[in-house]
Amino acid sequence: MDLSSYFRALPKAELHLHLEGTLEPELMIRLAARNKVEIPFRSVEEIRAAYRFTRLQDFLDIYYRGMDVLRAEEDFHELTLAYLERVAADGAVHVEVFFDPQGHTARGIPFTTVADGILAGLAEGHERFGITSLLIMCVLRHLTEDEGFATYREAEPYIADERIAGLGLDSTEKDNPPARFERLFAAAREAGLRLVAHAGEEGPASYVADAVDRLRVDRIDHGNRALEDPALVRRLAQRGMTLTVCPLSNLRLGGVANLKQHPLKRMLDAGLKVTVNSDDPAYFGGYLLDNCVAVAEALGLEAADLVTLARNSIEGSFLDAPARKTHLDSIDRIAAMEG
Ligand code: HPA
Ligand code: ZN
Repeated sequence: MDLSSYFRALPKAELHLHLEGTLEPELMIRLAARNKVEIPFRSVEEIRAAYRFTRLQDFLDIYYRGMDVLRAEEDFHELTLAYLERVAADGAVHVEVFFDPQGHTARGIPFTTVADGILAGLAEGHERFGITSLLIMCVLRHLTEDEGFATYREAEPYIADERIAGLGLDSTEKDNPPARFERLFAAAREAGLRLVAHAGEEGPASYVADAVDRLRVDRIDHGNRALEDPALVRRLAQRGMTLTVCPLSNLRLGGVANLKQHPLKRMLDAGLKVTVNSDDPAYFGGYLLDNCVAVAEALGLEAADLVTLARNSIEGSFLDAPARKTHLDSIDRIAAMEG
C-alpha cells in the first residue's frame, strides 16, 4: 500500500485545527456575495495569490480579514460541515477544533450565533460522516486577559453543559507570553475545561515551559521551539505531553525553509508525543492527510512512524478511555496486517 493510502486507512484524530482557517476561497466568495460583504478580491486565484506569508503576523492579518464574510449562524454551520466532510475523507475519526470567538464578537457577531452554528455543523457532521468532535474556544493573546474573561463569561452556559470542552490560546505569540493568562486558565481549569495553548511556534522555549507550568495545559499546540531546551524536551517526554505539530503551517509561515528541515522526526526521536495537524488548511495548502504525506515523504518516515503518529493523535485526544481503546485497537489491527 502506498504512503497516502496507508495513512488514510489509519484511524486518526485532528487536534490542531482553527475552523476559521478552513474558509476556502470559493466559500469566501460565495458568503461575501450572500452577506453583501465587500472583499478586496474578485476571484479564487486572486485570493490564493494573496496567501503568501513570511511570518505568523502576515497570515493573521489576512485570516482576521477573511473571517468578515462569516455573519450568520448558517455560515458557521456550512464552514464546519465542509471541513468535516473533507477531513473524514482523510481518514479522521475524531476532531478537536478551535474557534476564535473574539474575532467575531469584535465585529458585532453574537457569541451564540458563532457557537450555535459551529455546534450544528458538528452535530450534522457526526450524523453524516460518523466523525466525533469536541469544541475548544480560543482567546486571542494580543488582547488583554480581561477581554478573555469577558468572552469566557459569554461561554459559560456552553461550558456548563460541556458543549464547549476546552480553552485554548492563539494569535500573535511574540511578546504575548502565556503568563499573561494565568488567572483565566486557572478559572477554566476550575470549571473542568481541558486546556491547550499555542507555544513555541514563533515564541521561545520558555513560553512552552510557562504554558505547562503556569497555565497547566493538557497539550501544547506546535511546541517546535521546545527543542532549543534539552531539559524541557526531557520533561515534556517524561510526562507524555502531546504536541500538536503542523508541518505545512510551519513551512508557509517560515518556521522551516523546507520540509526536509522540519523537526518532526527529531521530536519523535526525542520521545516527544507528536501529532500531525493542518492548523489552517485553506491558507496553508493542505488538509490533514496532505500534512501527513508531505512530512512523511520529506523526512523518510516509515510505516512504524505513521502508526505512532496515528496512535499519538488518539492518545493525545480528550476522548474517554473506551473510545480511545476502540480507535487504538483498530490502528493496531491495521498495523498488524501491514507489518
Ligand atoms: N498560530 C497562532 N494563532 C493562530 C494560528 C496559528 O497557527 N492559526 C490561527 N490562529
Ligand atoms: Zn494554530
